[in-house]
Amino acid sequence: MARIEVVLGDITRERVDAVVTAANESLMGGGGVDGAIHRAAGPRLAEAGAVVGPCDPGDAVATPAFDFAPVRHVIHTVGPVWEGGAEGEAEVLASCYRRCLEVADGLGARTVAFPAIATGVYGFPPDQAARIAVATIGATPTDVDEVRLVAFDEESRDLLNAELAR
Ligand code: AR6
Repeated sequence: MARIEVVLGDITRERVDAVVTAANESLMGGGGVDGAIHRAAGPRLAEAGAVVGPCDPGDAVATPAFDFAPVRHVIHTVGPVWEGGAEGEAEVLASCYRRCLEVADGLGARTVAFPAIATGVYGFPPDQAARIAVATIGATPTDVDEVRLVAFDEESRDLLNAELAR
């Protein structure tokens, strides 16, 4: 089981084996955290995304991290678009965390940084998303030693820390 660390900041400052991006289905880049990761990795990331994509919501797929050294891998996952909560959004979000850890295991990654998937443009309520992130990572068998949950704002950080303390 992975140790979970909650940190506040920009995920492109993380020095881990693999960084997760909250992508759209095309995997060719977007705004938010995905835009930041694509800028860090350079244009080859979108080219690689186009080759391995598209990706369904709840699934994950890896590419190299290109110019985003020393990170070696970008794991692209597609969160659910929040439509009120009755459309299976929670299960899709949990699947994102599980699939990212499975993909990380396949890569041999021991340290993985995640953003708060789906809580920006896709509109997932941050409190519910924090609960799902911590519970799912805690319940998923993995060889990853350390998962770093990177919050971009203090509210998200506090929600994640509250879930960790439960
Ligand atoms: N480091 C860490 N977290 C960040 C950063 C950063 N540099 N920038 C934003 N966040 P979002 P989504 C946080 O919208 O909701 C893209 O266009 C942000 O505050 O990036 O899954 C994709 O291509 C929020 O808490 O992802 C898709 O089209 C979290 O990252 C769509 O947005 C996720 O916000 C995906 O939407």
